Parts: sequence; structure tokens; C-alpha cells
Amino acid sequence: MSTKVLISRIFPEIGERLLKEAGFEVTAWDKDRPMTQSELVESAQKHDAIFCTLTDKIDKDFFNACPSIKLVSQFAVGFDNIDVMKATEMKIPVGYTPDALSEATADVAFGLMITAARKMFFLHKDILKGNWGYFRPNAHLGLELKNKTLGIVGLGRIGYKMAERCKGAYKMQILYHNRSRNEQAETELGAELVDFDRLLAESDVVSVHCALTTETKELFNREVFKKMKPTSIFVNTARGLVHNEKDLIEALENKTIWGAGLDVTNPEPMKPDNPLLQMDSVAVLPHIGSSTIEARSEMARMAATNIIEYFKNGKVPFIVNPEVLNG
Ligand code: GLV
Repeated sequence: MSTKVLISRIFPEIGERLLKEAGFEVTAWDKDRPMTQSELVESAQKHDAIFCTLTDKIDKDFFNACPSIKLVSQFAVGFDNIDVMKATEMKIPVGYTPDALSEATADVAFGLMITAARKMFFLHKDILKGNWGYFRPNAHLGLELKNKTLGIVGLGRIGYKMAERCKGAYKMQILYHNRSRNEQAETELGAELVDFDRLLAESDVVSVHCALTTETKELFNREVFKKMKPTSIFVNTARGLVHNEKDLIEALENKTIWGAGLDVTNPEPMKPDNPLLQMDSVAVLPHIGSSTIEARSEMARMAATNIIEYFKNGKVPFIVNPEVLNG
């Protein structure tokens, strides 16, 4: 009997093609919206593996309701939508797609930083409203980034690429706050590991690249924004829940910080009447960090490879919980 894989969204076609070429029986959701939880569970119950992404809730109830699932293959680097502890307890490997999207996501962080610093989205909207008027010597003043300090929270693969861009383009000094040292960043980029408070106090741009965990949930709240410079820009391309959105709005309104660039919000999608969208030094994008042809196609290839390798050879090349296979 062939192995059955549920593909939960419309992904780049390479994923489904590789699975079919390898002899898997594939059911692919073909609507341009996530499955509801009951659609997801009902369908997954008839499959051996799920090829899913961050809009799918793969929680304890999912695992309990879908005993046929032997592998979860996530199309994303983040996996906070998956109860990995439960998967591990049930000896279910969880695959993911690290690195494929590092360049793409760092580009978005870098772009948001400049866009917020120069109020670009706001001014674009102003032109659409017919407000260009005359050249005004003292209006629309932004901030320059040359020789400023970048603080990276979570200097892993994507954080490194952001730091590399900022160093190369603006000779920025790089501070970082991490669980562990990143020796490559220290040697290649002169990055300095500092405690969180020092990073907040000294950085002109604070860019978040950490995973969403119980420790990082709403890490950026009112108290934390108060420790940042009034001229600083907060950039979040990781997960919206790493900041408290109400506190961020307040910090921007009160000029506790200067600006923000967000590719992730809380909740997603952001409502069109969110005050952040009207602020001049704020730039918001709809969670497009990995959205390049190259990154998304590589992510689909990796997610399919994880499934193929597991069922053919018992290996998951890109795995979140390797202890399941090693034990
Ligand atoms: C995107 O947000 C990802 O985690 O890959």
C-alpha cells in the first residue's frame, strides 16, 4: 500500500511533484485559504504524513485525533504552530525548512529598517492622497543608518544575514543577545554578545530574529520599549507574538521609540484600521519574509525531501526533534 501524504495548502509545485515521482499518494488542498481545524483533522486522519505550514494548528488534540500520522513536515523555519513536545512524546519526527529563507527574510528586515527610517510607506500613501505639494526643506525628516548600532535579538541564520547586510551597507556596529555565542558573527562581523538591557539601551535599530517560545512571548512590552532609545527603530520579522502590539502602539504614540518595521503582527492578518498603519515612521508587511520564488521553492523541496527520506530511509534531513530518530 502506498504512503499517503496530506498537503495542507497550495505550495510551490515542486513539493507535490517530488512526492508523486517518489511514489507517494498525495492529497493536496486546493483552496487559497487554510483548512479549518475540523477539515484538517478529518483529512489528516486518512494520511501517514502531513506537509503543512504555520497556518495549520498541529497541537495535542490534532495528534490525539490523528493516530495514523507518522511524520509532520513543516514548510517554514518557525514551528510554533506545532506541539513539538507532544510529537516527540509520540515519537513523531517533525521536519522543517531552515536556511532556505534566510536571505529572503533578512532582505525584508533590512528593507523594513530603511522604510521605517525614511517613512517611505507613509509618504507613498501621502502621494496617493494628493499631498505631495511643494518640496519642503524641513518636512518628512528621517534618520540615517550609517555607523549606527544594530541590536540583534536571536542571532541565528536569519539574524546573521541581517547583521551582514547592516555591516556591509552602513558599517553598523553589531550587538547581539542570544542563548549561545555566535563565534562566526564575532569573527566575521565584529558582533558583540551583550545582555538584553545593554542591547536595548545602545541600539539604534533592534531587530528580532528569535523563535517564539514561552520565554520570548511578548518579550517586547511596555517596560522593554521604555529601555530603548527614543530615536530607535524596532524591527520584527520573526513572530508577531514576540511583541505586545498594544504596548508597541503606545510606545510609538508616546515617542518612547521612533519607529517600527513589522513583517509579523499580532494578530495576523492585521486589521486595516490598526493605528500602526497610519503612523509615519512605521512600515508593515503581510508576513512575506520568505516570499521569494527561490526561497519558497527550496522550502517546498526540503519539506518534500523530509517526507521522502523518512519513509524510504528512516531519516529526516532537516529535523526539529532529532531525539525521536536517535533514541
Ligand atoms: C515563516 O514565518 C517561517 O517561519 O518560515
